[in-house]
Amino acid sequence: MASRYHEVYQAWRDDPEGFWSEAAAGIDWSKPWDKVFDADRGVFGQWFAGAETNTCYNCLDRHVERGRPGQAAVIYDSPITGRCESYTYAEMLERVNALAGVLVDRGVAKGDRVIIYMPMVPQALMAMLACARIGAVHSVVFGGFAAHELATRIDDCLPKAIIAASCGIEPNRTIAYMPLISTAIEQAAHKPDFCLVFQREELTADLVDGRDIDAGAAVQAEMSKGRKVPCVPVAATDPLYILYTSGTTGRPKGVVRDNGGHMVALKWSMSNLYGIEPGEVFWTASDVGWVVGHSYIVYAPLLHGCTTVVFEGKPVGTPDAGTFWRVIADHGVSALFTAPTAFRAIRKEDPDAKLLGQYDLASLRTLFLAGERADPETIKWAEEHLKVPVVDHWWQTETGWCIAGNPVGLGLLPIKHGSPTVAMPGYDIQVLDDAGHPVPAGTLGNIVVKLPLPPACLPTLWGNDQRFREAYLLEFPGYYKTADAGFCDEDGYLFIMSRTDDIINVAGHRLSTGAMEEVLAQHPDVAECAVVGIADQLKGQLPCGFVVLKSGVDRDPQEVERELVSLVRQEIGPVAAFKVAVSVDRLPKTRSGKILRATMRQIADGEEYRMPATIDDPGVLDEIADAIRARGISRSS
Ligand code: COA
Ligand code: AMP
Repeated sequence: MASRYHEVYQAWRDDPEGFWSEAAAGIDWSKPWDKVFDADRGVFGQWFAGAETNTCYNCLDRHVERGRPGQAAVIYDSPITGRCESYTYAEMLERVNALAGVLVDRGVAKGDRVIIYMPMVPQALMAMLACARIGAVHSVVFGGFAAHELATRIDDCLPKAIIAASCGIEPNRTIAYMPLISTAIEQAAHKPDFCLVFQREELTADLVDGRDIDAGAAVQAEMSKGRKVPCVPVAATDPLYILYTSGTTGRPKGVVRDNGGHMVALKWSMSNLYGIEPGEVFWTASDVGWVVGHSYIVYAPLLHGCTTVVFEGKPVGTPDAGTFWRVIADHGVSALFTAPTAFRAIRKEDPDAKLLGQYDLASLRTLFLAGERADPETIKWAEEHLKVPVVDHWWQTETGWCIAGNPVGLGLLPIKHGSPTVAMPGYDIQVLDDAGHPVPAGTLGNIVVKLPLPPACLPTLWGNDQRFREAYLLEFPGYYKTADAGFCDEDGYLFIMSRTDDIINVAGHRLSTGAMEEVLAQHPDVAECAVVGIADQLKGQLPCGFVVLKSGVDRDPQEVERELVSLVRQEIGPVAAFKVAVSVDRLPKTRSGKILRATMRQIADGEEYRMPATIDDPGVLDEIADAIRARGISRSS
């Protein structure tokens, strides 16, 4: 089939408001909008101004009312615990309604914030939807972050409550969540009113009197009352959630997502980008703590009336590299969406995909990859073995959905390995030089999006319009700065090559090297430091810290290095995957004192590098190269 992409993209260009108002017909509204786009509201304008709606109603109630009460909404498949459960739309609604009742009775109301700190269990989705039902704003914190990160988020969004599970389960350990939450609450200046705790059999928590409530018991009691908790109408422009993402400092950015535009863009994407019909099974192997999980484990599949799979496991080791194939076969998955690192892990374990032979993957039509650059070798391996199109697509926490992709639903465009293909409707993507001038096709530059951003993209940062402007809008006036560098080829295909800031991407997880440097600098023996992301065959990048110890420190440097590794784990969390600190005598700097991080990374990656003209003392680069060699840190380590 010839792709309708060009025609549809042009239709958006010709009449953006007409395009999005047509897409909005896929959503139920309790009050229509006054303006499809109101340029006078918010920082750069707002979508569907004046309209009212409810995201939980659109995800659950309307499917129960209109023909899907008995269809599975959520399949929970947990190889790590051996559990598999299924919840129909009617069952999800009953539980979400009850959980909403529990929150309302304890004083949580429209606009209040609720932090959710949970692993990949269906109760995490129920908690998100219960907040949406009553107009409360959720903020999910990924389980791999440590107490300090949780405390930072508590103090930024000032939650009324925390909803948590008693534990998370990793292959090598069970993580008790409540001690982490208690430490975070102790560290934070703001104190939430209460914690609602879902007890898991694997590790139950001792509940703190007067603070913690047993969520399971409270939900059961509420279910037996049978009370109906109505969906609270919220403005389309009201926040649905805040999701914190790495900025350039230790203070994460609270990306705000609205209700109306978010639903419109996500619903549009399910048929047109992902090519999925209501009723089909959509599986995103990520975590509800990331944007990919918010959009494509929870909201988009449910808005579209699909069955979503909640997978609590890893691509390898739970129990083997055939787990993904087993889940696809068992649940009839039509589309799988994950990060390339998951496929690199499977390929490393089972290079010839021998385990695939044990499963029937007839239901699978497409594999979608995002979260990091999809290296052509991984794509080719997946194409060869799965025999379905492998579609790379590019997006960010800030956008909430795809910026550039290959629209399967509109008809697949030819795939070019290494490119996430073309701009989605809503995005006018341009590549500019540092002075803000467009660069010719094939030339590397700053990738920007012409304002206004389409529905679902962040309208601002939580409580901080100024930081939003400074971080994204000021450098290239009239454009949103993606902070990704890349180029566009003659056919309009985009290639995303690297970040322009100090964000690194580790196993599809976005991390700030600046935040890690802040932690290292806290150590009493550290004079100065630099963290760079070096290439890793499995995780894409891994952080590596170079530290200069204070003069007069009379300790074994290796002991300090070990302390630094545990400090980052303790302050940021295991997800930082910070395992290497190297002490050096000096850091390479420019004459004006700027640390040459990019050159250090190039040396570590074994890339050709040009001696920076402004370098203070070229000899330092040899010292760094020696330290890297001595520690065996290299591209293939
Ligand atoms: N709670 C607590 N700890 C967690 C966690 C969670 N939810 N998730 C990860 N961690 C821990 C891991 O246990 C690991 O700890 P360790 O240092 O004790 O081994 C550490 O954080 C680093 O995790 P990760 O980088 O994910 O490495 P891994 O070796 O556990 O797994 C992959 C590697 C590739 C298998 C895994 O990252 C993966 O499946 N990624 C693809 C899917 C994905 O999540 N994408 C994200 C956005 S789309
Ligand atoms: P996050 O906000 O965690 O989703 O991370 C967003 C960043 O991940 C982007 O700015 C890119 O640097 C990177 N990224 C995400 N998807 C892709 C992709 N398909 N190709 C290249 N880089 C990607």
